Order: sequence, then C-alpha cells, then structure tokens
Amino acid sequence: MIPPMTSPASASKRQSGPFRLGVLLSGRGSNFLAIQEAIESGQLPNTRISVVISNHAEALGLQTAQEKAIPTAIFEKADYESRTALDEGIADCLKAHQVDLVVLAGYDRIISAPILAAFEQRILNIHPSLLPAYGGKGMVGLKVHQAVLANGERESGCSVHLVTAQVDEGPILGQSRVPVLADDTPERLAARVLAEEHRLYPSVIGQYLQNHLNREENQEAHDPVLQ
Ligand code: GRF
Repeated sequence: MIPPMTSPASASKRQSGPFRLGVLLSGRGSNFLAIQEAIESGQLPNTRISVVISNHAEALGLQTAQEKAIPTAIFEKADYESRTALDEGIADCLKAHQVDLVVLAGYDRIISAPILAAFEQRILNIHPSLLPAYGGKGMVGLKVHQAVLANGERESGCSVHLVTAQVDEGPILGQSRVPVLADDTPERLAARVLAEEHRLYPSVIGQYLQNHLNREENQEAHDPVLQ
C-alpha cells in the first residue's frame, strides 16, 4: 500500500503547474531517458523533469539531459568535506528547482539525512530485483543478477520503492517480474530486467503523482473555509 504523501513539516507546499521531478543519477541514465520519453509521449502527463543531478561529471545521463535541454547540476564528493555537506547542497538544489518528487535513477550514493528530511516520502528508487530479495548495501549492478543466478532462482525482476534511511527497505510501490532462463548470464538477465525497469518506473511515478494530486485536491475540497 502506498503510504500517505502528506505534507511533512519539512516539505513546502507544491507550486501550481506540472509536477516537477528531480532526477539523481550516476551513470548511463537509461531509466532517466525512459521517464523523459514517457513525459514526451504523454504517457506521464502534467509532469516535467526540472533538474538532473549527478555525482559524476562524466555520467552519460548528464549528456542526455543536456541534449534534451534539461538543467543539470554536478555534486562531486571531492568538493565537499562530508556526506552531509554534499547532501545539503543537493537538497538546496532540488528545492531551488521546486522539485516535488526526487527520482533516483542509478544513483550510486546512499541518500543521507538532509535530502531524506527535505523530501520525506518524496524520494523513489528503482532496484533490479524483486525486493526484499537481493537488496541492501552492496547489492548493486551485476552483483544482484550474479546472486540471483547463483541461487538458481526461476524468476527475477525490478522494484520501485520509497527511499528511507534503510537501504532498499522502504515501502514497495510496484514490481515487475521476468523469467530467469537456463542459459542466462548476469548480463543477459540484467538486460531483460532493465527493459522492464523502463516500463515500470514511468508507470509507478505516474500512479504516485496521480495519487498525490487526488489527495491534495480532495483535501482542499474538504478543508473548512474559515471566515
Ligand atoms: C538500474 O539497473 C537500476 O535498477 C539501478 O541502477 C541501474 C541504473 O541504470 N538502480 P541506468 O543508469 O538507468 O541505465
């Protein structure tokens, strides 16, 4: 079940207009591109990506964002004295772009308190396994698929979840399954899962925003008018 997307003390009231996404990525950015294409095709209506942030200046996803004329920002670890300082910078950047929902799309750093506090219940992540299986610290990239194959699983998949302080443990908002085939390699399985990720992520983001929108509108309709 999707927990209520209430207005925590830290979150400012949403600006009118399209929902604004802030994407964090570290590399290829194929999930980011799938989300952007879902926006462009109208599958994800009333939504736009306000900023793409990366912790690697050379991330391919940053280039893609620039080609799409989406604002980008780089926050590299070496430029900050602590993880908290880095995440404060990122949280400020997301707020400056009036981001409603933070979307982690292959971001290889753990999200810490400044971002978690500023965007409580407003951070999504996609993970290439059927969580809670094959999640947690260090379970990234091909390691996930190697572990799935080593355990002789018959199926795998991907999960979109809310981000909390516990890595990969936030409430699961959606999953998609794929078969594991007898002659799979980690790379082949990864490619099959990734194709599902590209379908699942835009769809869950759409549902989540719709849910939020409905809740806000319902709330406004039922709020007593004080005179
Ligand atoms: C995806 O497999 C995603 O599940 C994981 O990181 C990978 C990112 O791929 N969190 P891409 O950069 O979106 O192509």
